[in-house]
Amino acid sequence: IDELVADGVSGKRVFVRADLNVPLDGQTITDDGRIRAAVPTIRKLAESGARVVVASHLGRPKGAPDPQFSLAPVADRLGELLGTSVPFATDTVGDSAKATVGALADGEVTLLENLRFNAGETSKDDAERGAFADELAGLADAYVGDGFGAVHRKHASVYDLPARLPHAAGYLIATEVGVLKKLTEDVERPYAVVLGGAKVSDKLGVIDHLMQKADRLLIGGGMAYTFLKAQGYAVGDSLVQEDQLSTVKGYLQRAEELGVEFVLPVDVLATSEFPDLKAKAPTEPQTVPAGEIPDGLMGLDIGPESRRLYASKLADAATVFWNGPMGVFEHPDFAEGTRAVAQALLDSPAFTVVGGGDSAAAVRQLGFDEAKFGHISTGGGASLEYLEGKTLPGLAALEDAPA
Ligand code: 3PG
Repeated sequence: IDELVADGVSGKRVFVRADLNVPLDGQTITDDGRIRAAVPTIRKLAESGARVVVASHLGRPKGAPDPQFSLAPVADRLGELLGTSVPFATDTVGDSAKATVGALADGEVTLLENLRFNAGETSKDDAERGAFADELAGLADAYVGDGFGAVHRKHASVYDLPARLPHAAGYLIATEVGVLKKLTEDVERPYAVVLGGAKVSDKLGVIDHLMQKADRLLIGGGMAYTFLKAQGYAVGDSLVQEDQLSTVKGYLQRAEELGVEFVLPVDVLATSEFPDLKAKAPTEPQTVPAGEIPDGLMGLDIGPESRRLYASKLADAATVFWNGPMGVFEHPDFAEGTRAVAQALLDSPAFTVVGGGDSAAAVRQLGFDEAKFGHISTGGGASLEYLEGKTLPGLAALEDAPA
């Protein structure tokens, strides 16, 4: 981006593809981390006299306008953070977008409506995506890719648009890639990876890849129960992905061959019913050994013994990557496991990367000062796919010269 700015952006319309996919409760933004992360690039362009056209997706609408996924609240928050008003276009490439972009003065910023309100954005058909990218290209003179959280998506605004305009990577993408690179090259050891979250199937690629790089893998969250069951333990009514049991067994075997330590919970907090995450009424969970969860109970967090075990496994690590909460942290009864891992990371001198929307939100919601962590990534799927060594369409497109 510095080169693009040095070449002169004053008076030019610069399209910034950000990832402003923030969690909303109705119209209220519950975590604005991604909007704050987008500010440095937008501010730099505005201060350099560009007419800044910001665009993003939000949620997964079905290729047509859907008010619950409107970016309107995000325009207000972005304006507050920039200290200026950010006019909002109520469509992406229609009359509103054309008028709003056309009315921008040098140094002003607008936000377009949700890119996924147009079916061309996410289409698997190259021609359909290309046609939408052509329309987007008509709104701008240059492109800055800065939506790190979406670079793993082969979408029109991420992949096809940069090929049509002079382009550059923004500050957020540059920072994220710089940090993740450190985890793929010359990593300082011991290297511990903490993985959580509900589904083991979302993490197969990264487990497979990181087993060859890391010294220790600590597993928590819903996915831990598939691992426990694969070892022959009783997991009661806990979440298990039966179709992944044999894959997981294979991982445990290979880890042994490779000398990688797999750390699983030794005790869990269990309850008979999944709690109401809105009402947050107390649930009186029981602490039970991880291998002996009775029928009728489901594990929803790692237990106190596991918290101590995980903290000890992180205490002497030199590098840690963490993705996914240890339990249902949204309910205070099941937040202690995630809190303990966050605290262990703060207490350890390790270089720490927290990847993923959920873990980043957990860190903030549990009241931790995010500035104290080495790096909190704005990308969940994107950071995992980067660490898997995959080619990310949004990064590849920024490296290619425009067509
Ligand atoms: C995310 O939240 O991980 C990114 O914004 C990408 O969203 P998506 O998974 O809906 O493509």
